[in-house]
Amino acid sequence: SETPDIKKGLVGVYADESSISKVMPETNSLTYRGYAVQDLCENASFDETAFLLWNGELPSKAQLAAFQAEEKANRALSPALLRVLREFPKDAHPMDAIRSAVSFMGMEDPEAADISDAAQRRKAMRLLAKIPTAVAASNRLSKGLEPIAPDASLSFGANFFNMVFGKVPQKEVLRAFDVSMILYAEHTFNASTFTARTICSTQADLHGAITGAIAALKGPLHGGANEAVMHMLKEIPSPEAAEAWMQDKFDHKALVMGFGHRVYKTGDSRVPTMKKYAEIMAEVVGDTRWMNTSAVLAKVMLERKNIHPNLDFPAGPAYYLMGFDIPLFTPIFVCSRITGWAAHVLEQAADNRLIRPLSWYTGVEQRPVVPLAQRG
Ligand code: CMC
Repeated sequence: SETPDIKKGLVGVYADESSISKVMPETNSLTYRGYAVQDLCENASFDETAFLLWNGELPSKAQLAAFQAEEKANRALSPALLRVLREFPKDAHPMDAIRSAVSFMGMEDPEAADISDAAQRRKAMRLLAKIPTAVAASNRLSKGLEPIAPDASLSFGANFFNMVFGKVPQKEVLRAFDVSMILYAEHTFNASTFTARTICSTQADLHGAITGAIAALKGPLHGGANEAVMHMLKEIPSPEAAEAWMQDKFDHKALVMGFGHRVYKTGDSRVPTMKKYAEIMAEVVGDTRWMNTSAVLAKVMLERKNIHPNLDFPAGPAYYLMGFDIPLFTPIFVCSRITGWAAHVLEQAADNRLIRPLSWYTGVEQRPVVPLAQRG
């Protein structure tokens, strides 16, 4: 029979309905529950965005206070998990560390086997609260430093900086970090989110879905691109050398990280907002090299290939200027995207059908097994 119309990479395929976020490539825009991401960045916080993604509406003042109190109350890791983190190989990639930590959290979760909507929501809150603690603790342990316990008197972002560096930065830095968290929170059926939904569709638990999503996010074609962008920027000796560096990439038909997108072909609406805050970071730190090099790369890429940057392009240097180790960039993405992943798991579970597509077989025709004795 005839080969069916195969959509390799599921390009252009609508796999389900969703009311969480909407990408509009024709206007390069993105909304979460009907709100433009730029609007959320200017007029709301990451905490409010997390509440929005999980509940469909922005919180009232009282709802936000209750949400923040619950997040703060759930930040601490168990002594058992802290012992396990100490045993991780010192040179383990932080994405592998957080993937393993989340898997462990699943085993010790008090409602591990309960996949009811109410239990999954409580588990999502525990993950939102504990993932940054585990990311910061494993980062410090890998450098031979003691973990710093979470501080419930600090906001989500301030607490994360404190757990990584032992101090809270100035407010411009916290603001840039919060904006990056809002922009990274959710993005329709991307590879990691679809992975989470696929796992959820088998009626497996939330921690399993998030563990799988973290594994998917690590790859450089997806979340790993924010790290790759910074490695690339560091390879380029100066902004003046950027054009020649780019030419070499073109000559070798190499991918330039932080550029291109499956859905957006004429620009990613999150980029101007993140770029603005990366530039603020450059000013705060007094180091414009990375943004100057970035500007040359973006110009050359557009002129020569007509390819626009994606969110990872400005997020990489922004996190570097905040002082984070490069391998921590994608785990920071996890700290944010847990909100979108969990929203999708809840949505999938509420109206579930096992995700099980077809494959078109191109292997050898059916044939008999020759017993080992006759195979020589
Ligand atoms: N560098 C060089 N060429 C590129 C790039 C790039 N970054 N992105 C796309 N192209 C080329 C691609 O080679 C193809 O050329 P041709 O038609 O000659 O074969 C053309 O542009 C069309 O791209 P495509 O392969 O159809 O794109 P896709 O939808 O399959 O892949 C992508 C999308 C994001 C995987 C790809 O653009 C890429 O590998 N980018 C670099 C990695 C990256 O920045 N990833 C982050 C993605 S967004 C945020 C996130 O998810 O974390």
